[in-house]
Amino acid sequence: MSELRARGTLGDGEIAEVLALAEAAADADGVGPLSEHSLLALRGGRAGMAIHDGGGDGGRDGGRIVAYAHLDPATDEEPAAGELVVHPEHRRRGHGRALLRALREEAGGPLRVWAHGDLPAAAGLAAGEGMARVRALFQMRRPASGPLPETRVAAGVTLRTFEPGRDERAWLEVNARAFADHPEQGAWTIDDVRAREAEDWFDPAGFFLAERDGRPAGFHWTKIHPGGVGEVYVVGVDPDAQGLGLGRTLTLKGLHHLRDAGVDQFMLYVDESNVAAVRLYESLGFTRHAVDVMYATT
Ligand SMILES: CC(C)(COP(=O)(O)OP(=O)(O)OC[C@H]1O[C@@H](n2cnc3c(N)ncnc32)[C@H](O)[C@@H]1OP(=O)(O)O)[C@@H](O)C(=O)NCCC(=O)NCCS
Repeated sequence: MSELRARGTLGDGEIAEVLALAEAAADADGVGPLSEHSLLALRGGRAGMAIHDGGGDGGRDGGRIVAYAHLDPATDEEPAAGELVVHPEHRRRGHGRALLRALREEAGGPLRVWAHGDLPAAAGLAAGEGMARVRALFQMRRPASGPLPETRVAAGVTLRTFEPGRDERAWLEVNARAFADHPEQGAWTIDDVRAREAEDWFDPAGFFLAERDGRPAGFHWTKIHPGGVGEVYVVGVDPDAQGLGLGRTLTLKGLHHLRDAGVDQFMLYVDESNVAAVRLYESLGFTRHAVDVMYATT
């Protein structure tokens, strides 16, 4: 006997139960099922949907939570997005399908689901419910030690660091051109830049601009995380300047900076569909470390 309950508030005991469920899934699958964002909402007591099993009396303490889903409702810009997980000992009993259907009903329109790890079970469930794999986001890594080619700068190109208060508008222009097909990056506004400039990690010494004819033609913005991980945060090259090796030059410039700053690991996120970028990073020794897959209703 199982029962699905949607969107109330969770007590401390239930939050701990869902966290333990997520941990058991991470042990079984080798990857955590819930993003930092969902975990924060959960720890804050904001309930998703839970399937309770074994209680049978329908009461609030009627059974263990065996499956859990988080939903971010649709906004003006984004469709609803969710995540779901079933306890490893309670799989193949229809809980995943039931939760996914409940998410779709609650979303009331298009739904995206993020699945971490590209696991066959998630692929099978999504396919069975008619959802398509629309995106995969790779996290790639490599140790900072080991061979790193020298930065070669082509004739007519100069490299310099970003100057806060002066370069924002010009940077936004080249960012919009470089990411014309990726609105979540390309549509950044001055407020998006200023918000990041106000973050503790922001360091213009790790933000490089390449200029041709006195105008920015590309950039590499790096980010150092606590714990010795240096991220290739965003690399972009103006379409007019693509094919000249600027992406490689800028990436290497940033990686040398991160290594000199003492990081142990290089890390970056890249869309699976961005074949040129994936190839560039592979040629610099990066390998796939993790993958998140987005399934969407069609
Ligand atoms: C994916 C997950 C939620 C499935 O939960 P579940 O309760 O075991 O799934 P269900 O019993 O509802 O299965 C529904 C259908 O999904 C498919 N499916 C489920 N597990 C599968 C597997 N291991 N391999 C292939 N297909 C699978 C089948 O088509 C299944 O129907 P069937 O049992 O009639 O063959 C669960 O494995 C899980 O928590 N994984 C980790 C978190 C995750 O990947 N979440 C993202 C989900 S999109």
